[in-house]
Amino acid sequence: MRGAVQDAKKSNSGFRDERDIVSMCVDTTCCTVVALDQQGKALRPAILWMDMRSANQAQRVLLTKDPALRVNNGGHGPVSAEWMIPKAMWIKENQPNVYDAAEYICEYQDYINYYLTGRMCASVNNVSIRWHYDEERGWPSSLLHSLEMSELLEKWPRDILRLGDIVGGLTKEAADHLGLPVDLPVAQGGADAFVGMIGLGVIRPGEMALLTGSSHLHLGCTDKTFESRGIWGTYKNAVVDGVNIVEGGQTSTGSTLAWLKKIVSVDSYDTLNKEAELIEPGCDGVMSLDHFQGNRTPFTDPLSRGAITGLSLGHTRSHLYRSLVEAVCYGTECVLEAMRASSYVPEGIVIAGGPTKSEMWLQCHADVSQVPFILTEVSDAPCLGSAILAAVGAKLFDDIHSAVKAMVHVKRVIQPNPALNAVYQSNLKNYKALYHKLAAGSKTQVPKHELIPSVKGLRPIISPSILSADFANLACEVKAVHEAGAEWIHVDVFDGNFVPNLTIGPPVVKSLRKHTTAFLDCHLCVLNPQNYVEDMHRAGASQFTFHFEAKGVDYDLDKARRLVSQVKATGMSVGIALAPETDPDMIMPIVDENEIQTVLLLSVKPGFGGQKFMPNVIPKIEKLRKRNKSINIEVDGGINLDNAPIVAKAGANALVAGTTVFAGPRPISNIVPELVSIIADGINISPNFEIA
Ligand code: DX5
Ligand code: ZN
Repeated sequence: MRGAVQDAKKSNSGFRDERDIVSMCVDTTCCTVVALDQQGKALRPAILWMDMRSANQAQRVLLTKDPALRVNNGGHGPVSAEWMIPKAMWIKENQPNVYDAAEYICEYQDYINYYLTGRMCASVNNVSIRWHYDEERGWPSSLLHSLEMSELLEKWPRDILRLGDIVGGLTKEAADHLGLPVDLPVAQGGADAFVGMIGLGVIRPGEMALLTGSSHLHLGCTDKTFESRGIWGTYKNAVVDGVNIVEGGQTSTGSTLAWLKKIVSVDSYDTLNKEAELIEPGCDGVMSLDHFQGNRTPFTDPLSRGAITGLSLGHTRSHLYRSLVEAVCYGTECVLEAMRASSYVPEGIVIAGGPTKSEMWLQCHADVSQVPFILTEVSDAPCLGSAILAAVGAKLFDDIHSAVKAMVHVKRVIQPNPALNAVYQSNLKNYKALYHKLAAGSKTQVPKHELIPSVKGLRPIISPSILSADFANLACEVKAVHEAGAEWIHVDVFDGNFVPNLTIGPPVVKSLRKHTTAFLDCHLCVLNPQNYVEDMHRAGASQFTFHFEAKGVDYDLDKARRLVSQVKATGMSVGIALAPETDPDMIMPIVDENEIQTVLLLSVKPGFGGQKFMPNVIPKIEKLRKRNKSINIEVDGGINLDNAPIVAKAGANALVAGTTVFAGPRPISNIVPELVSIIADGINISPNFEIA
């Protein structure tokens, strides 16, 4: 920062000496998270905005289905690991001493302002766009409560300032360090791209900023509030009061052109742009997909990848280059379509970054989306945006609107060519069809359970819980799931005492055994499991899983060991079940002895089907899987298509699903193989199998 001030002094901006500087403002990358002690000293290096270490935590945030998540693709997610809460969770789970010692967990933005002025405060911009704060709902307290992170509220700065509000004056130390006057007013800034909207003059409903570089960030202003699939936001009053922000994004745009430039070994973009201008729109049938690093919006498909299709020997590098430019423009149009579907229709797009250097690219964007693309005089939008906020903070202007009027000037406008709309619209259809064809192709592999008899020595198992089946029709229901590929059948035996629900006992298991050869995975929620061993064996149970909390076991390792031996003596497999509040550490000595086949982790309160999944089971799975790579980890309760991938990726290879299988919208013959395939995928990529 010191260097920036010196450069400003040396620049030919008519600057005479520091008395010409009337205020300052800082914008930063977001969400770069810092943990500070009471004196504001950093307790660990900042976790940079693009750091993805908290991907698993981010998935668990999504599992809470909290209303605050509606800003993430209408609640369908993903929640990005880049955001505040997943990063704070990562610190708490991996560096608990840092987390406990932290007086503040905040943005790098707040840390800089603290060092400039001695005041700790947050920016309404950062907290609205990346902390799940909402002006109407306030802090995301219920979300934090679901994640057992409520104490984070105490670590976040209390004050939230609007953009342009005065944080305070430069302290003597900061002033001396920067060579600026003490008490120089410091105005509140925000995330660089959003401050960049101000630098582009995009602050009124209907306007959109398109900030580009290696990726594209679409930030639109609206006076409406909406959340829906395919978009991020709306973030209320996140830049200027009374205006909400809707966000779209394309992960790889400029980076795909840089990739091509490199592999065709051309030095300058000018050469490629000039050549590409000679190619007709549609590139003689070459159609590309710009998803080199997945798709952010509207498809939110991190697994999607780039493609170049329709090639013939007659095509040249110019066709390749132009087809990627057109693909990026089609990708932007898909983003705009999703926004228009939610009532947001941008009237004009102010663009900054790479494409502004290419007439062909600018014209292509305008023609594909049939919207004027606007260039302003100053392309370093975040820098100008911060200067505008500083000017407002110093009261040189009454508000951001009047400052923008005075400081942002349109240089030129690229108008769309309506004659090209038809050809681009039909190519856009092919672009979307190409994505869906490739995406579907990657999902129609032969179900994994037919391909991978055992993953890392473990089978991917779905164990449908008959608690949610039609009891009057049990044999048929069991036959249906077994034929659909469920090797295990989950039989909940509840005694009405250990849990307030009475279900079935050995006689029903005996009848079932007459109708099926399936593995009867019996989960005993009973006070005295030791009394049921012989009867369950005679009835034909395959696995006998008892609760460590049962009265007859009473959290006692030796009692548990005795019961394990009793079950093993019958030849049945044996499992130990843990209620949600029980820590797996309590049974690790038995897990280490490899005497049991299964640990069942309940992800709902024992006793009933159809309950909400409890995400705090995830760290337990990870801990268990890191400890033992061959034991069955069975997760029981609330499993569905959304959370199954996360549970499996954590290391669970056996998932119990009752409602999703027997009472869900999908036919049994369809949902069972899909769940098995998800489990196989999940454990196959699980990092928790590796040696800790
Ligand atoms: C809950 C039972 C579970 C339950 C699972 O106490 O142990 O097995 O039946 O059913 P869903 O999948 O509906 O949560
Ligand atoms: Zn169960």
